Amino acid sequence: MQVQKAIQKRLSIRQYADASIPDEHMDILFKALQLAPSGNNLQNWEFVFVKDSDLKQRLVPACFNQRFIKDCAYFIAGVADPNLKWHMVDITISFSHFTLQAVELGYGSCWIGAFDENQVKQVLKIPEDKMVVICMTFGMPKGKHVPRGRKAVEEFIYLNQFGSHFKSSGE
Ligand SMILES: Cc1cc2nc3c(=O)[nH]c(=O)nc-3n(C[C@H](O)[C@H](O)[C@H](O)COP(=O)(O)O)c2cc1C
Repeated sequence: MQVQKAIQKRLSIRQYADASIPDEHMDILFKALQLAPSGNNLQNWEFVFVKDSDLKQRLVPACFNQRFIKDCAYFIAGVADPNLKWHMVDITISFSHFTLQAVELGYGSCWIGAFDENQVKQVLKIPEDKMVVICMTFGMPKGKHVPRGRKAVEEFIYLNQFGSHFKSSGE
């Protein structure tokens, strides 16, 4: 699959089939996380992949009762050292790689930003001095998912100076 296609196909998946993920696919997904760029190549990221049903159930209230969390194959917590610059950016790029690689393999994901950090840390035994930057659900999509709309490109892309709209060569 071309990157362009994966970008176009990706959308948030909030319904998951009860399917397990083969190890060879997990290895490809881990590689996608690993190969992301990071500030000074510090790779300030650690990922807790949660497969255990009881833990996923406990994460539902920790994520403001987002019930679909219990159905995903893996809930993933993106953890970083908050004392290093770019920690939020680094984790986000790495997870973005993951989402596109997941699409190519036929899986889906959903970013989870609505969570109580202390509760997630407690459930997953994440050390106090680490930060849970962002989380994600991942698994085999189930049912129909409708793409959400986007602003028109003209609304947010400028040429040379802020507010000067970039016209494509075709226009
Ligand atoms: C930083 C961030 C946090 C998000 N947090 C949540 C969340 O807690 N729960 C949820 O269902 N979706 C969450 N989303 C998904 C967004 O709602 C979704 O990406 C957006 O509506 C666009 O839809 P799409 O991903 O299907 O294109 C989050 C997305 C991002 C990037």
